[in-house]
Amino acid sequence: MNKKLSIVISLLAVSGLIGLWFLALPKVSFSGLEAISNSSEAIERGEYLAVAGGCISCHRGQTEETNETYAGGLAIETDFGTFYAPNITPDITTGIGDWGPKDFLLALKHGRTPSGSFYYPAFPYRAYSGIKDQDVLDMAAYLMSLEPIYSETPDPDVPPWLYRSLMAVWNKVADFNAPSFEEFDDGLVNRGAYLARSLGHCGECHTPRNAIGVPDYAREFAGAEIGDEIIEPINAEALEEWTTNNFDIFLLLGLKPEGEFVGGDMNEVIEHNTSKLTENDRDAMAAFFTRHKLQDG
Ligand code: HEC
Ligand code: HEC
Repeated sequence: MNKKLSIVISLLAVSGLIGLWFLALPKVSFSGLEAISNSSEAIERGEYLAVAGGCISCHRGQTEETNETYAGGLAIETDFGTFYAPNITPDITTGIGDWGPKDFLLALKHGRTPSGSFYYPAFPYRAYSGIKDQDVLDMAAYLMSLEPIYSETPDPDVPPWLYRSLMAVWNKVADFNAPSFEEFDDGLVNRGAYLARSLGHCGECHTPRNAIGVPDYAREFAGAEIGDEIIEPINAEALEEWTTNNFDIFLLLGLKPEGEFVGGDMNEVIEHNTSKLTENDRDAMAAFFTRHKLQDG
């Protein structure tokens, strides 16, 4: 039997046995916030965080007028089907106009829909699970401050066995594989780790995955293959020749130390995410990725 199929069948059996326990909603708590803020400070912070989170790369509208907005519709091709990034403008019928703070925390950090169902991990909620609650709520403030756009987006096109509820099992497998990242002594490196691992979700592309698509954190940033695209490693070994300054310039311009510009999907990451970070945050990310050099002195 095909390996993927047998894994899926055993997952189905396991999910049947353990049943409802998997479906329980995670507890989210947020310090006394009942409503999404409409303060200009929260909105401004949220706008920056959405840039650092690279949300527009997937959620951009697909027409000329909506291309710079979060109207959604982009098709994301994966080994498991085609997923479409939804409309995340505050339109009531086709967007997320009726969302409250809890909905944002459940979606971004736990991959759960407002009705308790599951998102597919084409939405990088595993990486985003490390985002601080306050930062999620500030992004919510920003998204809710935007002009609502009416834009319907397609349902995912997945094989018939790939029920949303199967993601309950996927999430548990991912939990078992979840890394316990060390805290660094250096505040700048810690900030860089937060930007790279959580908000910037660099590992979603650069960390290899197992047969059911769960990231293999033991080989964090060791490079991957998505479809027929090769994603280069960005671990210590791969960055042997890169100085912190090289990495900084790369994040700003996409220019590699040997004088070549990066291509593919990485262009999008540079253009809409890393080039728009503050200098301090780019320095932080560069310090994190080249920290093995800092230690060597
Ligand atoms: C790699 C692509 C990708 C990125 C980056 C991404 N998303 Fe998404 N997002 C998706 C996909 C795909 C879905 C729908 C998944 C599904 O159909 O189960 C989704 C769903 C959502 C939803 C649920 C919307 C609804 O109508 O149920 C919200 C809210 C959301 N994303 C917000 C964000 C925010 C905020 C960011 C940035 C911090 C972000 N996303 C970054 C791909 C992405
Ligand atoms: C959507 C997938 C995706 C995401 C997210 C992503 N990358 Fe990449 N990255 C790529 C691809 C694809 C390439 C190879 C591009 C090419 O062929 O030139 C690449 C190349 C690179 C390279 C060049 C490696 C080399 O040796 O040439 C670096 C450095 C890099 N990425 C860093 C990052 C960082 C830092 C982040 C997080 C802020 C990130 N990437 C997020 C897809 C991604």
